[in-house]
Order: sequence, then C-alpha cells, then structure tokens
Amino acid sequence: MIYLDQAATSFPKPTEVVEAVASSLRNIPGSPGRSAHKGAIEASRLLFEAREKIAAFIGAPDSSRIIFTSGATESLNLVLQGLLKKGDRVFATGMEHNAVARVLEQLKKERGLEVIYLPCDQEGFLILEEYEKALRQKPPKIFCLNLVSNVTGTVQPFHEIITLKEETLLLVDAAQAIGHLPLDVGALPIDFLAFSGHKGLFGPPGTGVLYLREGLETDLRPLKFGGTGSRSESLKQPNFLPDRFECGTPNLPGIVGLAAGVDFIEKIGLMRIHRHETALADIFLEKIRQHPKIKIYGPRDRVKATAIVSVNIEGLSPSEVARRLNEEFKIAVRPGLHCAPLAHQTIGTFPQGTVRFSFGYFNRLTEAERAAEALLSIAEKK
Ligand code: ALA
Repeated sequence: MIYLDQAATSFPKPTEVVEAVASSLRNIPGSPGRSAHKGAIEASRLLFEAREKIAAFIGAPDSSRIIFTSGATESLNLVLQGLLKKGDRVFATGMEHNAVARVLEQLKKERGLEVIYLPCDQEGFLILEEYEKALRQKPPKIFCLNLVSNVTGTVQPFHEIITLKEETLLLVDAAQAIGHLPLDVGALPIDFLAFSGHKGLFGPPGTGVLYLREGLETDLRPLKFGGTGSRSESLKQPNFLPDRFECGTPNLPGIVGLAAGVDFIEKIGLMRIHRHETALADIFLEKIRQHPKIKIYGPRDRVKATAIVSVNIEGLSPSEVARRLNEEFKIAVRPGLHCAPLAHQTIGTFPQGTVRFSFGYFNRLTEAERAAEALLSIAEKK
C-alpha cells in the first residue's frame, strides 16, 4: 500500500517509537507520581524527561507548562471550555477544524459567546484587512488560529497576523504544523499552543500537548478533576502545574513513544523532514497540474504550504476517486470534508469536499510519482 494519509496520522512510526512504547509496557511496573517503588520512580523519571524534551522542542522555558492530553482536540477543549465565559467575543478563522468550530458552536449555545469566523481567501489565507477591521471594532478575548490547514496545507502568515491587542489571547492550533515547521513559543507571542502527538511528531494516537504561557493557568478551569498523586490529603485539585490540568493515570507508553518521536525528528532534522515532504508534494503537483479535468486547491505558491494537497476530478465525487485509488492502485488517501466544513466552504468545495493527498517523511519519491500517475489515469478513464 502507498500510504498518503499522513495528515490523518503518520505511518509508519519510526522503530524507535515502537520500541519505546513496547519497552514502557514491558519494563515499567508502576504509575508516575504514585508510590515510591523503583518502577514508579522510573515511570516518573520517564514522564519528566518526555516533558523536558517537548518543552525544549517548542522553546518553552519551563517544562511544567507542557500539559499532556489525549490529543489536539482535548488541548483545544481545555482552553476554550476552561476560559470562555458568557458574552465573550472570540475570533477564529474560516479554515478552522471542527476541533475548534464545534467547541465554539457548543459554547455559543451554552454561554452565549460572540463567535466571529474571520474570512479567508480561496487559497485558505486569512484576509488581513478583514482581520484588522474586526480587531478595530472590538478585540476578542481569544483568537483561535489554525496555523496549517488540514485540507490545503495553507500556512497562515503568522508574523503578518500578529498585531494583537493586549487583552487578546492567542490560541494556536498546531495539529498540522508541529513536526513540519519550526515553532518556538519562547520567541513568538503564542499564549496557548495545542497539538497532537500522532501526526508530525510520529508518536502514538491518544497523545497530545497543550503549552500555556506563564500566568494563564490561574483563570483556566481544568477540564478534568481527580487524582494526581500529589497533595492527596486535600479534596481540592492542586493549583500548581502540570497537576492542575493532568489527573488520572497518565498514558506513559504513549508519552514515551511521543518523546521518542521528537528524538527521531531531532536526529533527522526538522528542516530535512520538511524539505523531503514538500519535495514529494511538488513532484506530485508538477505531474498533475496541466490536466484539464483535475482541479487543485490551496496555495499556488507552494512555499506557503506544507505537504498536503487537495484535488478534485471533474465529474467524479471525492469518495469515488478515493475508492478507485484504494482498490485499483492500493493508494490510501482521505476524501470528503476532513472534519473541516468551514475550510471547505472557504475554498468552495462544500459539501462534496476534496480528495486529500498528504505526504510524509517515510514516503518515497516513486510513491508521489505513482500517486500522480494513478490520479491521471482515473481522470482519463472517467
Ligand atoms: N484531522 C485529521 C485529518 O485531517 C484527523 O485527517
């Protein structure tokens, strides 16, 4: 099989990741922060090491600000559910994933938020004049920014966007950015960074992170309450980090796998990974670009995109194209709306969606070429 669904979850996982997960399951008898026996102490050490590694990877000055979650969706829910109150104004973009949009819509119903979806152009870029106009009218409490679109790979022009007012908190959904582009929360005005572990970081599913800037924890209500292994005499949730937001037995096998994924990226080099993936997307695009029946979405200038490419073949539904790629060519892609109806409305492909090809570090050049040939052949045979 040629696996080109890397934006859904990266595959294969590096051997180091698989081994780290297996070794944790095989060799660590105990839960971090619970008990003082050798196994539990080793579990705590591994958890701390993973936190330090991820903090260093995103430039966070203090590893206690790395909160482990079950994925980007939980990280985003934690911020939005934990911070937004009745009447708050929120900005999000027209490229948002349902991991943000559905939470906002639910809170709008429950708490009467004012949600503004800032318009983006057909390539998925935020229209800066519209953003500035909305900001001048009234700055929001939170601005949710989908940094890289899971539909088109569009990378938002972060530095041009960031003219935020003091009262606005910036929540960056980096699910499709992390591991593909360098991110440094120490150098950028990011208040919250949410990402999953199983995509660009090569970790197992069920892992994710929320980074939060210093001082933001006090007003952020935890999403979950429960045992932390600390201050057990009190029935109150501890207010220090990371315990305020992490409770219940942590997913240690997943987290050590995630840390091994970060090690893998550092061994190979993030920019080398980025160059490889985007080169494959470019080769694929080069081969299909001229076909009159194939429509390509997303940035024309591919320097402003990651290795995600959405297309349609005239007269065929995305699911039919994906079915034929799978059955006739053994190529795995994701058709439809990609849990991002807003993004599809923005690029003009709602409600049928697109066929999404997403390339990763373990894909080979020949796979990108074969995918292009398969698509051309479907477009011809139609
Ligand atoms: N959000 C992930 C995707 O785009 C699952 O496929």
